[in-house]
Amino acid sequence: AAPALVDPFGRHVSYLRVSVTDRCDFRCVYCMSENMSFLPRKELLTLEELDRLCSAFVTKGVRKLRITGGEPLVRKNIMSLFKGLSRHLETGRLDELTLTTNGSQLSRYADELKACGVRRINVSIDTLDPVKFKAITRWGDLANVLAGLEAAKRAGISVKINAVALKGVNEHEIDDLIRFAHGEGHDLTLIETMPLGDIEGDRTDQYLPLSIVRARLLDNWTLEDLPLNTGGPARYVRIKETGGRLGFITPMTHNFCESCNRVRITCTGTLYMCLGQEDAADLRAPLRDNPDNGALFEAIDAAIARKPKGHDFVIDRRQKRPTLTRHMSVTGG
Ligand code: GTP
Ligand code: 5AD
Ligand code: SF4
Repeated sequence: AAPALVDPFGRHVSYLRVSVTDRCDFRCVYCMSENMSFLPRKELLTLEELDRLCSAFVTKGVRKLRITGGEPLVRKNIMSLFKGLSRHLETGRLDELTLTTNGSQLSRYADELKACGVRRINVSIDTLDPVKFKAITRWGDLANVLAGLEAAKRAGISVKINAVALKGVNEHEIDDLIRFAHGEGHDLTLIETMPLGDIEGDRTDQYLPLSIVRARLLDNWTLEDLPLNTGGPARYVRIKETGGRLGFITPMTHNFCESCNRVRITCTGTLYMCLGQEDAADLRAPLRDNPDNGALFEAIDAAIARKPKGHDFVIDRRQKRPTLTRHMSVTGG
């Protein structure tokens, strides 16, 4: 019924990122402002609607589903969504069901996630210093997150640790993060900060190009390029000394848009064809107003037909304000 999702540049959309809540129990300085106002609950798609929407994309050929937020695991009854979506793994229509999390609720949910077919998760940890961790996340507790990592490991879930490289904050801790992550058998990915949404700080203050980080790493480590492709934007190396994998996500210094395979949906059912563009399409109305998926498929096709070539992030040194006012927590990164 539904032809595959191919955009005007010939890119196949096979990866859907779905934000299930804009709320979070942390307030990371690069992501949120201290006083965020969140959406009223009635604006959110219900878990049933989220399932229907994700499943429509699976019908359209999406092979990888990543649940994000905000913090996805703070959404009430979220396990029922994972349970429902796991049927697509069982039928072989989906290759991967996964999530990106701050780790705060992992101790509680690791076993259930594993039972829903989640094999790999991404957990954000920017520093291993508990005081700095508190300073970056404002509300987070490192010990709790580390306990979550242990729970994931016990449950047999592989972990990728995400660290946003922040100038003057964690830039001299990258070696420690490598030793820790690889010592625990986890992958580590470094991310350039992207100017999305107003925060208290100045975006240009925090920005650290990963080209600089990579050059510094060569003092202590041997980096061997890897052909690994997880379907995301990271480019990986193996660190010879640890045997572990290190990924670089470089939206600012090396544009990876030409191989983009993803779109994202907000918790209100808005489809963003690119993280770094304003253009969006409402999928909530066609979803809610029609018991069958015809109008929804049409809306999806029309949106994919205008997926932009690439993002529009600029770090404007005079303006100091982000060009995109939407916060990362709306689209889940
Ligand atoms: P895997 O490759 O499956 O491990 O996941 P991922 O790296 O795609 O997902 P994750 O949620 O861990 O995202 C890591 C970082 O990559 C976040 O900061 C995202 O915002 C960023 N990211 C993911 N996809 C895109 C994209 O299409 N464009 C941009 N600019 N950033 C992206
Ligand atoms: N730039 C880059 N990465 C960000 N994240 C949140 N906000 C930003 C930003 N402005 C990261 C989180 C998490 C992932 C989903 O996105 O740390 O690892
Ligand atoms: Fe929450 Fe993630 Fe944003 Fe931090 S980066 S405030 S953990 S949504």
